Amino acid sequence: MLLCLAIGTLFLAWKHLSLTDVTTILSSKKIKFQKCSIDKYLETGLEFLKTAERPPLDEYVIRRNNLAKALVADGVDAFVVEPGYTFSYYANVTQPEWEVWEPEERPFLMVIRPVKLPNGFIIANTSFLVPRFEEVRARLLNMPFADEISTVTYEEHWNYYTTLWESPIWGEVLSPTLMVDEEIREFIVLGLASNGFTIVGLGGEVEAVRQVKTEREIGILRAVNTGTVEAIRAMRQCLYYGVTENEVVEVLDNTMRAAGMDPFFDIVEFGKQAALPHGGHDGQAKLEPGDFILIDVGSHLYGYSSDVCRTFYPPFFPNPPPPEYNITEKLAVWQLVLDAQAASVKAMVPNGTAAAVDIAARSVIETAGYGKAFTHRLGHSLGIKAHESPYLNKGNFEAILRPGMVFTSEPGVYVLNEFGVRHEDILVIREDGEAENICGGYATSPWNP
Ligand SMILES: *[C@@H]1O[C@H](CO)[C@@H](O)[C@H](O)[C@H]1NC(C)=O
Ligand SMILES: *[C@@H]1O[C@H](CO)[C@@H](O)[C@H](O)[C@H]1NC(C)=O
Ligand SMILES: *[C@@H]1O[C@H](CO)[C@@H](O)[C@H](O)[C@H]1NC(C)=O
Ligand SMILES: *[C@@H]1O[C@H](CO)[C@@H](O)[C@H](O)[C@H]1NC(C)=O
Repeated sequence: MLLCLAIGTLFLAWKHLSLTDVTTILSSKKIKFQKCSIDKYLETGLEFLKTAERPPLDEYVIRRNNLAKALVADGVDAFVVEPGYTFSYYANVTQPEWEVWEPEERPFLMVIRPVKLPNGFIIANTSFLVPRFEEVRARLLNMPFADEISTVTYEEHWNYYTTLWESPIWGEVLSPTLMVDEEIREFIVLGLASNGFTIVGLGGEVEAVRQVKTEREIGILRAVNTGTVEAIRAMRQCLYYGVTENEVVEVLDNTMRAAGMDPFFDIVEFGKQAALPHGGHDGQAKLEPGDFILIDVGSHLYGYSSDVCRTFYPPFFPNPPPPEYNITEKLAVWQLVLDAQAASVKAMVPNGTAAAVDIAARSVIETAGYGKAFTHRLGHSLGIKAHESPYLNKGNFEAILRPGMVFTSEPGVYVLNEFGVRHEDILVIREDGEAENICGGYATSPWNP
């Protein structure tokens, strides 16, 4: 009886504790985890930020002038784009910055034309098609132009495509040919096409303008991608068994925020969860000994994206691993994927094809017998978007690599219900033929990601 009472009291005491203090104990564990991660990150001195500066006005002028030259090379009269990623590339306005409420049915179009100067130089001349009542709002965007922006305005009851066609900007050109961006909506393309314009889709030298990064863009991409890898490395030192995938997401995101970066996706997968390359589970899995940790994560800095992936063990998992974990295959695959990545980097040479880069990595993985387990393309370009063209897949023989293009190399091997491994680094194509890693260097082992 007494014993029962004692046990009962103990139980009640524990229950009482569980209601109040256990959550505090658990959350204090996470608070310690986060503090440790941010401290380790700040200990790097955040040196990587030094290569980044917000693109100044003249950077936008250079981009539009490059576009003007490309328009002449492609034989078209103008480039037309709506607010979105490409618009922000040329004039620093994103879609939500213009369309605060929802996508607008009234076209707001940037029209960029090439102009030949008497000295032979080709420069851009930009106009905006805008509803009359929105003209002042368009000016208040303070887009990066040296002079006042030039507008073509329309009333609500007009045919605004005709308004654009009849505007004086076309000079002597009777039936202008427009190249439309891939982000422009179909009803606008159809409207332009049925009101006098000839339309061609994005391609050729015009598409290559955004694909070839300037050194300023590479400086930002270097900063944000190195900062993302360094955040993973800092956070890793603070892990503990029992932490959940979702807790790692939260702490890693807050770690990157400590450097002024803005995380926009974060895939954290333990052990067999990583067999799904883009996640899909609920993030509740707890870290257990022997689990690989796969993290694929992206952040923004000055409008530019990072996108890197590391697969690793926590620092306290012994190296070499105790035999009871039987991770021989996992370690072999980890190295295989790294070898495949190295082979792809060797194929990243000027005038090489996008397909050859994918095939270089894929054949390493196929030779080792894991061909079917490498289920996605090798990579893609990145810039203001995390995924930009050209795409590195084994069918893309059309895309020719140029110096200044930036790519991910992200081979992977996925064994369903067992494990997944992926390494993703960022490379710049260089004139001398040796692609440069701009994300803080490759992983060298699962204990040194
Ligand atoms: C581009 O836009 C951002 C914010 O939207 C602003 O801080 C920056 O100054 C702009 N850049 C230029 C060159 O105007
Ligand atoms: C751009 O073109 C328009 C129309 O041809 C012209 O009036 C304007 O002066 C040009 N702007 C510049 C900066 O050259
Ligand atoms: C270890 O795992 C491999 C497959 O990865 C399996 O073939 C082998 O039998 C396992 N060894 C032991 C001792 O369990
Ligand atoms: C790539 O091709 C272009 C055009 O054919 C050529 O001018 C250039 O020298 C080539 N570059 C290399 C590194 O082979």
